[in-house]
Amino acid sequence: MISPIVSVSREGSAPGAPSLVDALEGGAVLMFPDLDFPFSPFEERFVERPFADGKAKNVNIRGEAASLRGAAGTPEEQEALRQLLIRYRAFADALIARYLPTYAGKIALAGTSYRPFEVDQRKLSWRRDDTRLHVDAFPSNPIGEKRILRIFRNINPEGQPRLWRVGEDFASMAQKFVPKLPGYSPLSARLLAALKITKARRSEYDHLMLHLHDALKQDMAYQADAPQADVRFAPGQTWVTFSDLVMHGAMGGRYMLEQTAYLRVADQADPERSPQRILARTLGRPLR
Ligand code: SIN
Ligand code: FE
Repeated sequence: MISPIVSVSREGSAPGAPSLVDALEGGAVLMFPDLDFPFSPFEERFVERPFADGKAKNVNIRGEAASLRGAAGTPEEQEALRQLLIRYRAFADALIARYLPTYAGKIALAGTSYRPFEVDQRKLSWRRDDTRLHVDAFPSNPIGEKRILRIFRNINPEGQPRLWRVGEDFASMAQKFVPKLPGYSPLSARLLAALKITKARRSEYDHLMLHLHDALKQDMAYQADAPQADVRFAPGQTWVTFSDLVMHGAMGGRYMLEQTAYLRVADQADPERSPQRILARTLGRPLR
């Protein structure tokens, strides 16, 4: 099954319809066509040219202090961009509270990013090439029993869509790839943590997700032939998905905002639908 795109009106899902959390945990992308996130006249400049130093893939704020990284511009402009990202973080938080109330108080908001560059303009290594179908995994930041929920918004001022591909369901993909992955070594996981190469001990889940991410991106036959669908996210649209579960690739577009959030597997409506539990079922045993 290919991940469905579920359009959600401002009013939310109709009474009696399957809940949004149910769709999301099942691998859907929720797409909100018309939520408001207005820019002030001063902020319009952030979609007229990239306010980025060009060294990193994008500009972001992190942590309690919301310190801005990777930005360019005058101090006044950089502070305005920082405030825009703080406002987007609050917008994402409010979206979760309003449309995914099951998760209220259980979500931890992480990084917020401004992505002003054209997706396929920059020649990246295969591993960083997000045009290839993949599920998200963070090499230096093991996430263990947490899920990655992302809230995206296309802020392109010229009508340019964000072009994505979405792929088949996680379980079908895992059946094809898990048998080919190298085995997990608890010893080398402890070593990576001791050497501070990873911020915490890499669990078997983290190990599998990193190798899945790489194996998927390196398999050009799979990239070309796997079940997949093209998706266009128009300017003004907001979309939400578990990017550790939903196979995706970004094919084009520029100017987007993105919020990353974490949710513990135990705090899902149905933990059995997490990639953690799907991988355990694929292997026929609990993960270490
Ligand atoms: C990704 O998460 O793979 C990239 C999403 C995007 O840039 O649209
Ligand atoms: Fe991704």
